[in-house]
Parts: sequence; structure tokens; C-alpha cells
Amino acid sequence: MHPCVAGEKCCENGGNTLVFVVYDGINNSVFASQVLQPLLKRAKKNQHQKIYLVSFERTLLNEQKIARLVPHRENIIFIQFWRFPFLGKMGLRLSVMQLRSFLRRLPCYSLIARGPLAGWVSMRAVSPASCASYTVQARGLLAQEYELAHPTGRNLVKALFCWIRKKQMAAVEYAAFCPKPELLLAKFRIEAVTPALKEYLVKEYAVNPSHVVLAVDDMPARIVEYQRLVWREEIRNQLHLGPQTHVYCYSGAVKPWQCPDGVVDYFKNELAHNKNSFLLVLTQDVEAFSRVLKEKQLDPKYYALMTIPHDEMSKYLSACDTGIVFREKHIVSWISRPVKAMEYKSAGLKIAHNHTSAWLIDVEKEENTVAVLGTGYVGLVVGSCVAKFGTPVICADIDERKIEFLKNGISPIYEPGVEDLIMSPLLTFTTDLVSAIKKARIIFVAVPTPAQADGNADVSVVKEVAKLIAKHSNDYKIVCLKSTVPIGTHAVVASIIQDYKKGDHTIDIVSTPEFLREGTAVYDYLYPDRVIIGTKSERAYEAVRQLYLRMGCRSEKIIWTDNPAAETIKYVANSFLALKISFINEIANFCDRISVDVLAVAYGVGLDKRIGTQFLKPGPGYGGSCFPKDVQALLSMAQEAGSPLKIMEQAVQINELQRYQVVYKIKNLVGENLRGKVIAILGLAFKANTDDVRKSPAIDIIGLLLKEGALIRAYDPQAMFNLRKELPDITYCLNAYDAAQGAHIAVVLTEWAEFATLDLAKLHPLMKQPCVLDTRNIVPLQRLKASGFRVDTVGRSAIAQDQDMTFIPASADRKKRLSKPAFTAHTVVAEQFK
Ligand code: UDX
Repeated sequence: MHPCVAGEKCCENGGNTLVFVVYDGINNSVFASQVLQPLLKRAKKNQHQKIYLVSFERTLLNEQKIARLVPHRENIIFIQFWRFPFLGKMGLRLSVMQLRSFLRRLPCYSLIARGPLAGWVSMRAVSPASCASYTVQARGLLAQEYELAHPTGRNLVKALFCWIRKKQMAAVEYAAFCPKPELLLAKFRIEAVTPALKEYLVKEYAVNPSHVVLAVDDMPARIVEYQRLVWREEIRNQLHLGPQTHVYCYSGAVKPWQCPDGVVDYFKNELAHNKNSFLLVLTQDVEAFSRVLKEKQLDPKYYALMTIPHDEMSKYLSACDTGIVFREKHIVSWISRPVKAMEYKSAGLKIAHNHTSAWLIDVEKEENTVAVLGTGYVGLVVGSCVAKFGTPVICADIDERKIEFLKNGISPIYEPGVEDLIMSPLLTFTTDLVSAIKKARIIFVAVPTPAQADGNADVSVVKEVAKLIAKHSNDYKIVCLKSTVPIGTHAVVASIIQDYKKGDHTIDIVSTPEFLREGTAVYDYLYPDRVIIGTKSERAYEAVRQLYLRMGCRSEKIIWTDNPAAETIKYVANSFLALKISFINEIANFCDRISVDVLAVAYGVGLDKRIGTQFLKPGPGYGGSCFPKDVQALLSMAQEAGSPLKIMEQAVQINELQRYQVVYKIKNLVGENLRGKVIAILGLAFKANTDDVRKSPAIDIIGLLLKEGALIRAYDPQAMFNLRKELPDITYCLNAYDAAQGAHIAVVLTEWAEFATLDLAKLHPLMKQPCVLDTRNIVPLQRLKASGFRVDTVGRSAIAQDQDMTFIPASADRKKRLSKPAFTAHTVVAEQFK
């Protein structure tokens, strides 16, 4: 039996089958960009997901045509059903029967229905028990589009027919967006293409607003610069166009609301000013457009009219300079996030539009633009997440190399999810900080604030940026301080801005600390536990709040404070987490002494909601760019204020000693004398899923081992490049097995998933001594022991050494163990290392 049939668990997770239903869609012009590209992206990301693309077509397509329309479809299974032309609900019912019989064979699936017709059919065909999540995409409105496409004129019979048709469509549409109650059990949502369409659905169709989310996944990806230049030359050569020719592009179908007349008129007007202009029309409706061109008497030497394969669109767009998007006035309020325009933008084209496209105007309005100064871990995540939700963002950095990388779609940092997001056409990268400041209304400052020798954060870069903002602002600006800055920095920034500002416009300072963890920063930004907005200005608060709401943040998560409180929250939050880690590390050492499993303790304690299970994992001590720096900064601020934080002083000390504790454990396993001993270090990053080695425990521990004459063979899946800058003289290895060659011990210092699944049978014979110290408790202990390794851990020593150890300490044994000389970190340091 399929596991999903037995339990609901798989369905709760969304299953691993996706059914995408299109209704007469695969032949249309946006199929490639809006359906196929996102599906292929999905298929690439999740190789295990089975994707069924179910299409209802009026005429069945042959294999050859399908292969052309749906290329590279190893992961996508194409299913086609025949359907009647739209005859109201009657014709749709036949489609329901076909889809239902297909879905019956799938035990568990997620379903996406594209548009109201696919929505109506799918809603009736799905089985709520097997459907894990149901999404209906709203990209336009059927009845409204129908009316625009069929002007009735004075023909009364035609008018009556159209009226009936429209009514039928409106009824289908209404039903498609109002879910059956049973379906609400699944994750039901409607994806609206624009905020205006969302509003329309809520108002006209009484759709529950909490079901509607804004569509973001079908945004075409930005074409990287080098690729664009190669294609540009290729296509221009093919069209015999010189580099000076200004190429205008129209791509898409020829529907009345796409104003083909207006497009040609616009081009003729441009041509009158510059004879070196050319119009490239890419359409399936060649005949219809050539009629328009003839009517408008455009000289054929100024245009080319062609149909190109779906997947070549980016190539042809790359050869152009301006994309033309004209829309009929009626339609723009709800269909006005033209994916076409985004396609143009993704190819770096300027966009010409007839100013009826509300969303486009919104995007282009400078006051909506957000600037992010600094493209490190924080800046890049903030910028790319804001852009994901439809706001244009300029990311600026003085580091030319970084910007060059980013323009070519390469993230200079390893952060899961970022590489996809930086391809958004709404994101631009520049080294020109001044122009970014001038264009934006909201400016995020995410520049580095490194620790100084006295523990205080160095805010000189923040001050420089403040001067720049003051000098180059021409209008109202909101400066959001994202960098972690000492309490009171907002006032320093405000006074710099006051001193350097020209003009009487206001510049508000908002303190919005980030709470992003490296490795899950994108997730943390998109699903925050809270958003702190610290400012006295209601106007600034409201603007920043709106930005977060637009990103789908729930309003109750947004907290309004003043600046100093916001600045303090950041330090206190990080310090408390650091305290929690030091606490559990001390408890782990204690558990080792009394033969208790620290993981059982942490879990049992953490289930108390007041405590929580997170940040109670013992290990080699915390590291990273934030905790050590922020705790030090808080300590010095508290000291200066005459209120020293004794508890945090202890937390820092315990953290330092935990590194020694690891070395002590290594010695326990391989002997006191480390000279000439080969130690395999598995994991160099300060934690998993990052390439960051700042203040990584690995640096301290390797340093201590080298001092004692050990030979280090190190491996990390991502962080070796960064560590080599700090420790060039150790041996860097290809993988964990390579590192373990001839080693006396393998020490796991970072909790990378690949270490949890090491092939122990392969590892064992490679090592000189089969010995593992797992400081992160991720390698299954029983497996290690069963494979013949000598093992130790942090906080589970008893289990590591004793086969029958359970969570409950054996009291008889306990006494014996307690009588051994205590090995707390403090004594270790005192006796052996200092
Ligand atoms: C931290 C904060 O979590 C984040 O809110 C803030 O904005 C930036 O600093 P980050 O430095 O990315 O994020 O790492 P985090 O996941 O918090 O881990 C910090 C250190 O604590 C790592 O060395 C990690 O290995 C260690 N840690 C964490 C433990 O040893 N045990 C735990 O249970 C959790």
C-alpha cells in the first residue's frame, strides 16, 4: 500500500506529486514563460517530485508538437485530454469526469489549476482526502476578457449570444474561486496576479481574503549579462541589424486589449524621430499583425514579423532595446501585472507603455523603489526577498567584483535560495550608491559593523553611508538601519544627516534589526517570528509596515517601538540565545559526568513552552558573525553604563572553554600526546548550510591542535575556500573519506547533513584508528558503535561508551563515574592548556 493511503502524514507535507492543470493553454503565447518555465524550475529543484502537466485541448496534439511545446520533460509527464469548446458547465462536466478518473489513481498530490476554467474542473474532480494542497491561479478574468474580445456592435442577436456567454463565464468563474467546504481541509489558496485582482476577487466574488496570495513564482528570471551580450550579437547578425539600430520589440498575441494599432502608431512616431529604428514583432498571430502593419502602411524595411519557438524568446529579446506593452484601459486594473513587461525587464529592455498599466506604473514609480546599501548576507537576502514580492530593488555595493558576480546571476555568498531570487527582473545591482539613494524612497543600510578591539562595533561605514544619503537625497527618505549597531546609533545617524542635508525635506531613521540565521536567512526573512520597526515617525512606520505586509507578513507580527528599544532588542535577543547555548553546553558536560543523555534532557526541558526546544543543542560552542560580536558589544555597553552583565560574561567564558573541552575529549580518545597524530576535521563552517567561518569553533580547535603538534586533514562541503585564507597550511581534502585517510581520529565539528549519513563501512578501513568524536551529535551513535568505532560525543559520553545506556541514568554506575577526576572545562584549561 502507498504510505499516503495508510497515513495522512505524506498528504500533510504536500505529497511528492504535483498535478498542474491547464485548460486549452499549452498553445498560447505565455505558456512558456508562465507555465513551463516555473514547472521546469520546480522539476530541477525537486528531482523526486513527479509532475503531471494535464492539458485539456480542443484538438489533440501529436507527439512531435508536444515535444516542441514541452521540451526537456524528463520529470514532467504530459497528459492530454480532449475537450469541447466552452459550452457552459455542460462541456466542463465531461472534463471533470476525465480528470476525476485520472486523479483517482493518485494516492496523494498537490494540485495547481491555471485559470478559472481549469479551476472549476479541478475543484470538482479532486478528492479532498488525497489532495494535500490546492491552488487556483487567477491571471485574468474570463468574462471580462470575453467581452473585450467580442465587441457586439449593433448586432442584437450577437449581443444576446454574447450576454449569455458572459453570464455563463461569470458563473463558472465565481464557482472556481469559491472552494467546496471539504477542500478547505487541504491547503486551499488563490494566486492573484496583482493586488488589484486580489481586491476585485474579494469585492466582486466575495472571496475570503485570507485565501488569496499574490503570485510571484512565474516571474521570468533575469537574463544574465554575458548571456545577453552573446545572444544580442547572434540575433542582430541574423537580422542584419547594426549595433546602433534601436530595436523595439512587440511580443505576444494579437488580442484587441493588447492594442496592436497603438503599438504600430507608437513605433511610427519613434521612427519619425530616429530613422535608425526597427520593430521586431514576435507572435503566433502573424497574419493578424501583418494586417495591422499593412493598414498602417509601415515600410517593411523597418520591421520583421516572425514566430519563434517558445524557448527562444529570451534570445530574441536580448537583441532588442525597448519592449512595447500597450493595454486597453478597461483591463488594466485587474490584469495589469503584465508578465510580458517582466519578460522585457528580465532581458534588460526599457519598457514603453501607454500608461494604462497600473502595476507597471507602480513598479516604475521611483518612490516605490527600495535601495539596499551593502550586499553581504543581510543586504542580499533583504533585497532579493523584497523584490520577490513585486517591489523594484536596487542593491548597491562598492565592491565591484561582487556586483559583477551578481549581475551574472552568481551569488558571492553561499546561502540556500538566494541564487534563485537574485534572478528577479525587479532586482538591479550597481556600484553607484548615489543613484540608488536618489531613486529610492526606502533605503536599507546593511553595511558591515565589525567588532573593534574593545568589543564595541565599528560604525564608521554606517556613518559614511549616512553622509552619502544626506548629501544626495532630494526628497523624503526613510533610512532603515539593518546593520547591527550600538544602542544610540540612530541618533548619531540622525545628527550626521542633519549636518549634511541640503534642503528642507525630511529623512526619517528607522531601526529595523534583522534576525536572520545564515543558512536559513531567506526563510527567516519571509516567515519572521516578528518584525521590529523602531521609529518615532508614523509616516515611516506605515511605509515600512506596508512593505512587510506586501511580502505576506502578518500584521500581528509587526511591532512598533522607538529606535533605542529596537536597537536593544537585537543585542538582547542574540545574547539570550548565546546564553542558552552556553547553558546547554555546561549541562552537557555535567551530563557526561553523571552518565545522562543530554539530548533527552534538552528535549524534556525544552517541551516546556516557556523554555522551548531550540538553541539547546550542545556542541563545540557558538561562533559566527553575530553571537560573539553582539555579546561582546552588549557587555561593553553594559559596562560603560555601569551595569555589568555578569551572566553574559560567564556565557562568553563557557563558550571559550568549550573549545578546550573538545580538545580534551580528543586526547581522551587518542592519548595525551598529539604530536604527529593525524586528525580529520569534518566541518569548518561555524554551523551547517553556510560557507562562513567567522569565529568558527573549528578555527580555535584546529589552532589548539596545531599547537600540540597534531597534523590536520580538513574537509567542509562549502567553507574550505574561506578557511584557507585563515589557515593556509593545513591539508584540505576532497571529502570526508579523503580527510579520514590514515587519521587517528575523525572529529565532526559542523552538523552538515552529509556527515550524518557517512558510509561507516567505507570510513573504517581508511583510518589508522577507527575513532570518532561527534561534537554535534549527528552521526547515529548505535551505527558508529556497531561499525566498530570508538566514539565520544558532547553530552552523551555514557551512551557512546556504554551499549545499554538509556535515557535514565543507572544510579549504581553513577557513583563510580562521579568518583573519576572531574573533567569540567575549567579544570581542563587550568591543568593542561594554560
Ligand atoms: C544568529 C541569530 O540566530 C540571528 O537571529 C541573528 O540575526 C544573527 O545571528 P547565525 O549567526 O546565522 O544567526 O547562527 P545561529 O543559527 O543562530 O547559530 C549561532 C551559533 O550557535 C552557531 O555556531 C551554531 O552552531 C551554534 N548553536 C546554535 C549551537 O551550538 N547550539 C544550538 O542549539 C544552536
